Amino acid sequence: MTKIYIGMSADLLHPGHLNIIEQARKLSGEIIVGLLTDKAIASYKRLPYMSFEQRKIVIENVKGVSQVIPQETLDYIPNLRKIKPDYVLHGDDWKEGVQAQTRQRVIDTMKEWGGKVIDIPYTKGISSSQLNKVLKEIGTTPEIRCARLRRLLASKDIVKICEAHNGLSSLIVENTYVTKDNRKYEFDGIWISSLTQSAAKAKPDIGYLDTTSRLEDINDILDATTKSIIYDGDNGGPQEHFVFTVKSLERLGISAIIIEDKTGLKKNSLFGTEVEQEQETKEIFAQKIRAGKQAQVSDDFMIIARIESLILEKGIDDAIERAKEYIDAGADGIMIHSRSKTFDEIKAFAKEYNKLLNRKPLVVVPSSYAQVTEKELVENGINMVIYANHLLRAAYPAMVNAAKSILETHSCQQASDEYCMKLNEILTLIPGAK
Ligand code: SPV
Ligand code: MG
Repeated sequence: MTKIYIGMSADLLHPGHLNIIEQARKLSGEIIVGLLTDKAIASYKRLPYMSFEQRKIVIENVKGVSQVIPQETLDYIPNLRKIKPDYVLHGDDWKEGVQAQTRQRVIDTMKEWGGKVIDIPYTKGISSSQLNKVLKEIGTTPEIRCARLRRLLASKDIVKICEAHNGLSSLIVENTYVTKDNRKYEFDGIWISSLTQSAAKAKPDIGYLDTTSRLEDINDILDATTKSIIYDGDNGGPQEHFVFTVKSLERLGISAIIIEDKTGLKKNSLFGTEVEQEQETKEIFAQKIRAGKQAQVSDDFMIIARIESLILEKGIDDAIERAKEYIDAGADGIMIHSRSKTFDEIKAFAKEYNKLLNRKPLVVVPSSYAQVTEKELVENGINMVIYANHLLRAAYPAMVNAAKSILETHSCQQASDEYCMKLNEILTLIPGAK
């Protein structure tokens, strides 16, 4: 029987996809869809809206599809060699750009057994990118947003999180992307930093902002974005408060809280031993984690335990002991923090940590060892990186420059021309203003 292979993501299924299947049916053979896994898709663009299983159910039920198998990589070749289809069908958009190389490889491989590639003319007037734009405008639901972080951790080499401290800065994390080496790079989620959320309100990072007011601010971010959100919970407060915080965050669709194993008046970790800060005993902290895990309603919400042993110069052995204890208590991930100027300390911890059999995702915050690259983080088994304060740190000096320019020139002309976005741009920055 004639075998026809079609590789696709089938996330936002539209008439363009159905046309390809329709053309395949005309070949009167067995239509096998190679459905790209979340991992394969996340290797070059954003995670699909629907999980692999959801996409599979949809495509399996399309008229003409005989079989759906996973395509684990962007590369078609492994599946093609297994199936040796007579035809591969694809939209003709793959003749250009990045995909041209993939197409050529498919053509060359298919020749080995006399198979053919058929390019189906692109369906005009509809595309996944248009649908994506509309979906972003519709927004998301708390359940989908909350569950997203676990999916990201399961699909990406490294999950990239960037700080936002208000609605406006969260729009930057949501929408900014760069295209490089034929790939689209964007952040996976938003970090609600206690440092920058406090600083944005001209308050010190000493736990002065209470959870209720922090959550009010986060509403602006929830309105403006669809990406995953991770909440910096300081030490989580007393256990009796922590269980309420977990429930509130989960209900809002926040994916995770990170709590640090400290006690007493909160001081920013990057002060290290320059200020008085005390680590909680691992037993009491583990108890707090346990209580939090019991309080959450769904399985999706994550409690990530942040270990301050390196910050407080207690050494790697202490940090590893604590990691074990916190994972046993139910922690869904471990954040290891350091204020060292180099990556060495974290690297040494990661080496030991990666040996743990029940190892959970490892999170780092390279504020002081900023030179480290994502590639090095991946090589050392780190699963998530949080760029914890960079948007606020970028905004403040830019504003100081504008203020100084007005004072120096006794006019706002230079500030307008050199330091500011155009008036028209700010007027129309947020949709719905006109
Ligand atoms: C934050 O961003 O508030 C953090 C990370 O907790 S740090 O400031 O390095 O402690
Ligand atoms: Mg903090």
